Amino acid sequence: MKIYFELNGESRYEEIEPGESLLSLLRRVGMRSVKSGCETGDCGVCTVLVNGRAVRSCTTFAAQVRGKRVTTVEGLGDVDDPHPLQEAFVEAGAVQCGYCTPGMILVAYELLSENDNPTPEEVRAAITGNLCRCTGYVAIVDAVLLAAEWKREGKWR
Ligand code: FES
Ligand code: FES
Repeated sequence: MKIYFELNGESRYEEIEPGESLLSLLRRVGMRSVKSGCETGDCGVCTVLVNGRAVRSCTTFAAQVRGKRVTTVEGLGDVDDPHPLQEAFVEAGAVQCGYCTPGMILVAYELLSENDNPTPEEVRAAITGNLCRCTGYVAIVDAVLLAAEWKREGKWR
């Protein structure tokens, strides 16, 4: 079966297998920022945005994004042209192994799209379903608050 969807602003028409997960599809088409972890919806490393909402791609069928907008970290920025959220994570020292980082950045992007002046408690609530075994979360919360500050200052594109 083929489905049409938008991936990071580009139209895609991809063949999918019956029952294939969105995680599998995105990895197959080269979105290596989308990580595989528990594959049971518990760790958040596979998070992507679908029509601007954070979803677990491991527990989402590829067929469910038919006609929808999918955003991965590749759609925000890269090493040569990072998004301010990515820069904030580096600035705050919120990246260690980096495995959780794409999912963290996308849940933060969803939060800051709706609220560019969150409290630390609101940031913690937003990332609560995303596990990080390296940082202890403090630097991640600092990074999101820094990105929010930059957004309020008009530094986001
Ligand atoms: S791999 Fe999807 S939530 Fe863990
Ligand atoms: S930086 Fe290693 S899991 Fe979060």
